[in-house]
Amino acid sequence: MAAKATLKFGGQEIELGVEEGTEGEKAIDISGLRAQTGLITLDPGFANTGSCKSAITFIDGEKGILKYRGIPIEELAEKASFLETAYLLIYGRLPNKPELDSYVDEVTCHTMVHENIRRFYDGFPKKAHPMAVSAAVIGALATFYPDRQDPSGRRDAEGSIVRLLAKFPTIAANSYKYSIGQPFVYPKNRLNYCSNFLQMMFANPCAEYEPDPVVAKALDLLLILHADHEQNCSTSTVRLVGSSLSNLFASISAGISALWGSLHGGANQKVIEMLESIRDGEGSAAAFVEKSKKGDDTTRLMGFGHRVYKNYDPRARIIKKSCHQVLERLGIHSKLLEIATNLEEIVLNDDYFVQRNLYPNVDFYSGIIYQAIGIPKNMFTVLFAMGRLPGWVAHWMEMHEDPQFRIGRPRQIYTGEINKKFIPIDQR
Ligand code: SDX
Repeated sequence: MAAKATLKFGGQEIELGVEEGTEGEKAIDISGLRAQTGLITLDPGFANTGSCKSAITFIDGEKGILKYRGIPIEELAEKASFLETAYLLIYGRLPNKPELDSYVDEVTCHTMVHENIRRFYDGFPKKAHPMAVSAAVIGALATFYPDRQDPSGRRDAEGSIVRLLAKFPTIAANSYKYSIGQPFVYPKNRLNYCSNFLQMMFANPCAEYEPDPVVAKALDLLLILHADHEQNCSTSTVRLVGSSLSNLFASISAGISALWGSLHGGANQKVIEMLESIRDGEGSAAAFVEKSKKGDDTTRLMGFGHRVYKNYDPRARIIKKSCHQVLERLGIHSKLLEIATNLEEIVLNDDYFVQRNLYPNVDFYSGIIYQAIGIPKNMFTVLFAMGRLPGWVAHWMEMHEDPQFRIGRPRQIYTGEINKKFIPIDQR
């Protein structure tokens, strides 16, 4: 017998179905609520509202659990590669060796961008933020592949998916090279995904450059940890834009823009700026912690807190450990890591944060590794987007294959003026 919920209102009593997920989560199905009662629900920020059923990623915020397609993030972080994880998220299972080799080859063979795309950058100011550039250029890919636009056709989507995964690193590295006035570096098919990105970022015509495998491995780990996180702000954006039958390039471009915000993926850049200002004596860690208790979004302690995790973000735990390992392997002493560790210690013992279950999230330590491997601060969120790309794609595909697919269009409660008359301009 399926569970039911009873709603009583205005002398009316109705029964609503209760859906239960494979991990035991329960949701009241309100899809017939307005038709039956004239009522809608109101949930600013959607903290209590499920937008869909999904089989891609599971998060238990209370226990700090994250699984991609049922596999714990800790196992994937230790044993998988980023492209293997992308395959898992998008196709629902781990590839066997021939499948993975063929997938890697296919992505590798699409890493170059059309020469016309290289000219886009000349139109941007030198100081253009790489997130703005990435959103613009990714969106413009739709103009180069008009035949890959039919959202309902999985074959079309396959072509767009490979092109997005393959070209994102090239587009990102190009935005960095443009910002420092260096020539763009073409991808090299002999290199793996992360080594290729590193050489496009740091090689130049005047010197030999061989990517450090330790750095490439650290980057691969970071991309895995950022690959998906169920219905976060940017993934929900990709779903909503895709629900109007906009093409995949347009939907991903919208996701990049949503991720850019400092409350979301943009926090990783803000964390480093916060740690640097503490290092440079513009405020002690304790002062930052005190200021962050004002409760407004602009003074919050970047890298702490989460809508879902009310425990330590499992990704932050892995990244913190990797921080120490990578910096030690590279022989780098990071004052910022010291400050971050001290800040975490203060916060985890501060009642304000303890009472609100505020812990380090994925953005708190990631920038320290990015900085240690030479990535400039304004590229941090671009790397977050590069990691999140397979998750966005997986959700976009899942939405289009959902039998309950329909355009997303929330309702509202109107609180504005009523029965106003038009006043001619000479009487206003
Ligand atoms: C990501 O959704 C995802 O899954 C996102 C993500 C992903 O992988 O896609 O995990 C990636 O976006 C991580 C979060 C990165 N952002 C930051 O680090 C920015 C700082 N964090 C906060 O802005 C905040 O914690 C959010 C945005 C992450 C969550 O915001 P919520 O859920 O709206 O939190 P809330 O406002 O309900 O907070 C509850 C209380 C409030 O205080 P009271 O009103 O109860 O007095 O906690 C306070 C908040 O003021 N609070 C903080 C705080 N975060 C929340 N106070 C100080 N510093 C903080 N960081």
